Amino acid sequence: MNKPVSGVQIENAKIVQDDKAHVWHHLSQHKPLEESDPMVIVEGKGMRVKDINGREYLDAVSGGVWTVNVGYGRESIADAVRDQLAKMCYFANSAGNIPGAQFAERLIDKMPGLSRVYYSNSGSEANEKGYKLVRQLAAIKNNGEKHKILFRDRDYHGTTITALSSTGQLQRKDQYGPFTPGFVEVPHCMAYRAPNGDDPDYGVQAAREIEKVILREGPDTVGSIILEPITAGGGVITPPEGYFETVQEICKKYGVLLHIDEVVCGMGRTGKWFGYQHYGVKPDIVTMAKGVASGYAAISVTATTEDLFREFLAEPAEKMHYFRDISTFGGCAGGPAAALANMQIIEEENLLDNVVKMGDYLMDQLLELQQKHPVIGDVRGKGLFVGAELVKDRKTKEPVDESVTAGIAAHCLKNGVMIGRTNRSFPEHNNTLCLSPALICTKSDLDEIVTAIDNAIADIA
Ligand SMILES: Cc1ncc(COP(=O)(O)O)c(C=O)c1O
Repeated sequence: MNKPVSGVQIENAKIVQDDKAHVWHHLSQHKPLEESDPMVIVEGKGMRVKDINGREYLDAVSGGVWTVNVGYGRESIADAVRDQLAKMCYFANSAGNIPGAQFAERLIDKMPGLSRVYYSNSGSEANEKGYKLVRQLAAIKNNGEKHKILFRDRDYHGTTITALSSTGQLQRKDQYGPFTPGFVEVPHCMAYRAPNGDDPDYGVQAAREIEKVILREGPDTVGSIILEPITAGGGVITPPEGYFETVQEICKKYGVLLHIDEVVCGMGRTGKWFGYQHYGVKPDIVTMAKGVASGYAAISVTATTEDLFREFLAEPAEKMHYFRDISTFGGCAGGPAAALANMQIIEEENLLDNVVKMGDYLMDQLLELQQKHPVIGDVRGKGLFVGAELVKDRKTKEPVDESVTAGIAAHCLKNGVMIGRTNRSFPEHNNTLCLSPALICTKSDLDEIVTAIDNAIADIA
């Protein structure tokens, strides 16, 4: 006899059917969904999420894309957002709101050298604000000449056409051109694939490549450079020694503003509030999004120095001389309310310390795994932000096919662990497994994650 079908089962089946019929999922080829059902996530607590069929998963990528930094089910953030929305949900950010002012003060306290916070609601948008500031500054000060923006091979800065114009990931850009003019690529700084092998001076040399581009383009034409402190989706690339110090020196020499994209690294992921703070640099613009409110609300920030802000001060007679930009939902007061509660959790639970301790543990575990599996060519990262690059041969470093990383991620998922991987970013280098568990993770969570990868590699690679 068939088991009786409950009301909940019927409701769930309808949700899956509606999703299948009408939702166009991000980054997804829908053809396979003609034969199978999409995953629908319905609940989360701590490090774990549950799908609509009641299956539980340990999430090693904080919501798939390194976002839910403080973990799922945080009542204090939900309450803060609810209370704020009931009191005052929205007003255009040409006016202030209470959590917006409070969060700006708390945030700037963590970022010595910066003083201004501009709100919007996605990482792409925050970066675009940075680009617009540079373009307008060029118009105000330099007859529009210092308008070019440099970006780096392998980095990603967002999904809009202009953000893609500044992305060094060929597959992400493919088929979406033509792109916005005035964006110029500089070489990557990935020691594992450095042109000169293991040269200890590689960091300085990689930075000097930027100088060559500035000189080629003409220093009078270059307004800024945007860099991820640690490249995320491009393969978790930590900068080599000497890199950022030299970049800083070059920026100063040629009057090029340094824009650091902290959309992934920001808010503690690497063990400091911001990734750039590991490298002693003084950025002019810092953008952040994902971990700012851990996904409990959509909020992003473009933070700048007071010097940059003051360039936009002028007498009212100068009608065009102010930042004429708006983001409608930058006025949603729930965003900074969530961000304040999120920051409070990180402080009260000493999560930065946990990131350092657990990050070291995760790194040790992965290095051990590397001893065991020749397919792991390189392990790199900082804090709870780690990548393992897979190769066919350690000597030649020939990358494995993307089907191998995809197969390993699928194997882990089947065994209840969600891991990440570089995904259709490069024609040949979609070969890095990515881990970014929530900042609350424990050794036993990490053991479970590493065991799942160990088993997957044993079966697949
Ligand atoms: C480093 C970096 N910058 C910017 C973005 C774009 O953020 P969003 O998807 O919120 O627009 C991303 C997204 O993954 C990112 O990884």
